[in-house]
Amino acid sequence: MKNILVTGGCGFIGANFVRYLLKESDFKGRIVNVDKLTYAGNRENLADIETDFQDQYVFIKADICDGARIDGIFDDYSIDTVCHFAAESHVDRSIVKPDAFIQTNIVGTFNLLESARSRQKQMIRFHHISTDEVYGSLGREGYFTETTPYQPNSPYSASKASSDHLVRAFHKTYGLPITISNCSNNYGPYQFPEKLIPLIILNALDGKSLPIYGDGRNVRDWLYVRDHCTAIWTIMKNGKTGETYNIGGDSEMENIAIVEIICDILDEKNRLSDNRPRKDLITFVDDRPGHDRRYAIDFTKLNKELNWSPEATLETGIRDTIQWYLDNRKWVDRVKSGEYQAWIKTHYK
Ligand code: NAD
Ligand code: TYD
Repeated sequence: MKNILVTGGCGFIGANFVRYLLKESDFKGRIVNVDKLTYAGNRENLADIETDFQDQYVFIKADICDGARIDGIFDDYSIDTVCHFAAESHVDRSIVKPDAFIQTNIVGTFNLLESARSRQKQMIRFHHISTDEVYGSLGREGYFTETTPYQPNSPYSASKASSDHLVRAFHKTYGLPITISNCSNNYGPYQFPEKLIPLIILNALDGKSLPIYGDGRNVRDWLYVRDHCTAIWTIMKNGKTGETYNIGGDSEMENIAIVEIICDILDEKNRLSDNRPRKDLITFVDDRPGHDRRYAIDFTKLNKELNWSPEATLETGIRDTIQWYLDNRKWVDRVKSGEYQAWIKTHYK
């Protein structure tokens, strides 16, 4: 792998992955990061990488829905590997306005596959990042495995399921050397503060209400983002072509429990000015339509075949994440206020 096209590298997981690859892994080639810079994509997330890895890192602002542009980038940078993160990723937004999910997640993925297919001889690997949400919802028992039938319940998960099917089909039909990973809920540095964990950390810090959908008993299997990055790189290097691998954090928890843990850690660090426990801020609100009850991943295949397992525990991961948000309030203010847009005009042409 000499020239990896990373899509969505300015988003949460993509930025962590680029950072991991260049600073911690054995990768010695070049990363070409293609990102449209939607509200969720911040070039600032990799500003230090742009400065410190000029020989190994290129940023291109482009939309993966623009097929001609993507084709040109494959040629200009002799792309031999793809690691595809770019997506509309927030379930609540997909419920309110699914259009962009269909375009980016399905049409965008198709464009990338077509560009790769027409240069198949030079393609080493097309790795597609997907979600466990394609499998639907579990009851109290059981786990998602790689053979669990797809049953997506939100426009987001349906669009990701469509993209997974296209990627698999390009392998079966054209022999494109693909791998797919389906992971559980990620958390960690640089996550846009609309997802549960950063939203709760920031609201709790500021003494604002903590919205819990429904009864708060929905379960997610939390994966620390750095563990996700090591899993992806393991699969890209050693995964078997045409295969799917599930990635999980071995950290199942009800939403209400994780919110209470965050409240307790923040109280331990610094009480609210009126000395109220932060748990008092918890507010049960209307449930999300089609809200999946439980996700839980069986990652035996990745563990047994490629010897991967997560390093973080929920306790260490949450503490590190809280500390990151405490240390990066300016980043939070910028991405939330739109000030980031002004920042980018000042710092970049
Ligand atoms: P994110 O929303 O933080 O980042 C998405 C990135 O994609 C942004 O930088 C955005 O600007 C870019 N993008 C969006 N549309 C684009 C387009 N048309 N062209 C080019 N770039 C575009 O998302 P994330 O949380 O980092 O998720 C990354 C991938 O991982 C997604 O494919 C998502 O489905 C998957 N995933 C995420 C989670 C999670 O918990 N966050 C869990 C499972 C799977
Ligand atoms: P989210 O972070 O949106 O991820 P996903 O929907 O992909 O799992 O939500 C995680 C869980 O937290 C999910 O069960 C919905 C719930 N949730 C709340 O209870 N309140 C909130 O404000 C948000 C954003 C999510």
